Amino acid sequence: MRKQIVAGNWKMNKTLQEGIDLAKSVNELNEQVDGDVEVIVAAPFIHLSEVSRVLSSVRLSAQDCASEANGAFTGEVSAEMVRSAGVEYVIIGHSERRTIFKEDDITLNKKIKLALDNGLIPIFCCGEVLEERESGKLFDVIQTQVEIALFDLDPADMGKIVIAYEPVWAIGTGVVATPEQAQEMHAYIRKLIREKFGDSLADELTILYGGSCKPSNAREIFANTDVDGGLIGGASLNAEDFIAIVQSF
Ligand code: PGA
Repeated sequence: MRKQIVAGNWKMNKTLQEGIDLAKSVNELNEQVDGDVEVIVAAPFIHLSEVSRVLSSVRLSAQDCASEANGAFTGEVSAEMVRSAGVEYVIIGHSERRTIFKEDDITLNKKIKLALDNGLIPIFCCGEVLEERESGKLFDVIQTQVEIALFDLDPADMGKIVIAYEPVWAIGTGVVATPEQAQEMHAYIRKLIREKFGDSLADELTILYGGSCKPSNAREIFANTDVDGGLIGGASLNAEDFIAIVQSF
């Protein structure tokens, strides 16, 4: 049985106190939810150590980490620092990092290795922009992203990774992928991993869908064979909405 995960990516939202309050509410509501879904919140760096203190039923993620281990990199936060703040997961390669901060696949591969070396579980994001989908290049784009970021990992490390498929045209736009579009790409990603790393690793890989996922559409997306949960942006800023998504399995 694959692990099912719902992760909330708060992005650059919430003051420290608001973040602590949101984490407390999510944790409390999640305590009343039956089932085995792993619930994660990805808070801004500055909130991590305080938020880690108020979580019990919910796991904690960072939204990024540096591509270097330590040293003279003003403003950066290393994987080791993230781990030392009581964090278990780290999102790597979110499309906002790729587009706005110009992170390429080689940089993301370095981040993934540093995260793994420091005991963090990477949530690796991939996804195509609208023109790439419309021109039929979507599978090639995802293949390149996955190959460069993940294919030189050893199988033991690859077995720890979570992948999030986030079509860029669906992020924060209110336009959600259809269940068929999500299933098609999730099955394709699983096939890529199967061909490189074998059946058992592919069968156990958790693949999340991200992009305008809400309480009203999560159920039909999560119902697909190869969709193992969601990476939720906007709707994770409200504890009730976020937990309603958790309950959509
Ligand atoms: P959204 O963001 O749910 O607001 O579309 C998803 C994400 O960026 O992870």
